[in-house]
Amino acid sequence: MLEYDPYAYALHENPYPLYERLRGEAPVYRNQSMDFWALSRHADVLRAFKDHTIFSNREGVSLDPKSRTPEAARIGMSFLGMDPPHHTRMRGLVSRGFTPRRVAALEPRIREMTIGYLDPLIGSGGFDLIDDFAGRLPMDVISELLGVPSADRRQLRKWADLLVHREEGVRDVPPAGSLAFGKLRSYFTELLAERRKTPRDDLLSVLTKLELEGDALDDMEILSFCNLMIVAGNETTTKLIGNALYWLDKHPDQRKRIDTREVSIEHWIEETLRYDNSTQMLARLVTQDVEIRGHRLAAGDLALLLVGSANRDEEVFENASAFDVGRDTSAMLSFGKGAHFCMGASLARLEARVALEEWWSRFSNFEVNSAAASRVHSINVRGFAHLPVEV
Ligand code: HEM
Repeated sequence: MLEYDPYAYALHENPYPLYERLRGEAPVYRNQSMDFWALSRHADVLRAFKDHTIFSNREGVSLDPKSRTPEAARIGMSFLGMDPPHHTRMRGLVSRGFTPRRVAALEPRIREMTIGYLDPLIGSGGFDLIDDFAGRLPMDVISELLGVPSADRRQLRKWADLLVHREEGVRDVPPAGSLAFGKLRSYFTELLAERRKTPRDDLLSVLTKLELEGDALDDMEILSFCNLMIVAGNETTTKLIGNALYWLDKHPDQRKRIDTREVSIEHWIEETLRYDNSTQMLARLVTQDVEIRGHRLAAGDLALLLVGSANRDEEVFENASAFDVGRDTSAMLSFGKGAHFCMGASLARLEARVALEEWWSRFSNFEVNSAAASRVHSINVRGFAHLPVEV
């Protein structure tokens, strides 16, 4: 029996054998008891990403029953939980503050923070890659961008971790996750009030002053955006850095290609995104009856887009289950496609590049202690909670 349950802890260890079976045996998979469809082939996931009229975000992108209402989606996910034209309006407004220039300008500061974490680890012999580095940098970057003071970032990371953590056997947001959501909300409510009173040169202050053809963001919209940034921009990038180092350590032949500079760090990052993406799955509400590969999905159904599986589809990627840092990854769907294409893709790539460049110039001799590693348990974020390394 083929069972795909995104909450199952066993699946989080290695979902790829199951994805392969889904693509082969049930590309339009139906989970009757949990009441969802799952699309695992690249062509189907791509189609759903591009067709937001039939595959809607208006109830959010999570499978958790508590999150799947238009109200919860709007409050928790901001414009990720909306369809055009609401999505277009809000993404358009936020984009005026979250500009490529603002992102590019962060590079020197990202490097400085990276060095600040890595230099003290030289000579330590070993440490936890996530606790001491990869788990900290992305929250620092989002915080610098939004204007969150350094002293508060550790607490924010804890809340963000709780938001994505799922308990074994609980097919919804656990109470600790809901509590963390409330705390984050209160935190940003206070910070926003402060910035309205005394604006600074940060994104939060910029968002309070934005105006586009007489339109502006209200407090509730800014708070939801902060929430989206904390989850979308933090957890995913932490996992990307961890996954990149983990998979390179597991593939000595590929490691040699990075060591000799035959292949660039940028290519290594792209292949990590394809091979083991930190975002594995996104949900969509089906808005009208649609047929896919002979299966009828009805209006009101829930469809899960298995990005992690699409990136391993042999119809698109030759020898897809091989980690090959030099391959063409341009068809990968790791940052989505269409209207909701990841707004932070260039920032994530920038962070990962700086992190791995600075890592390589200090710790190219690293070894991962896989036996002591542990994974996060989330229904869509994939990566390590702890990853001990020796250097
Ligand atoms: C490895 C890192 C990352 C991955 C794999 C990733 C993945 C994704 C994916 C797949 C989507 C599309 C969701 C959908 O279609 O339902 C998305 C959307 C989004 N991401 Fe990322 N992301 C990453 C990093 C970031 C960062 C660093 C930021 C912000 C600083 C960010 C901000 C966003 C936002 C705001 C959206 C919503 C876009 C919209 O709805 O129009 N992401 N991300």
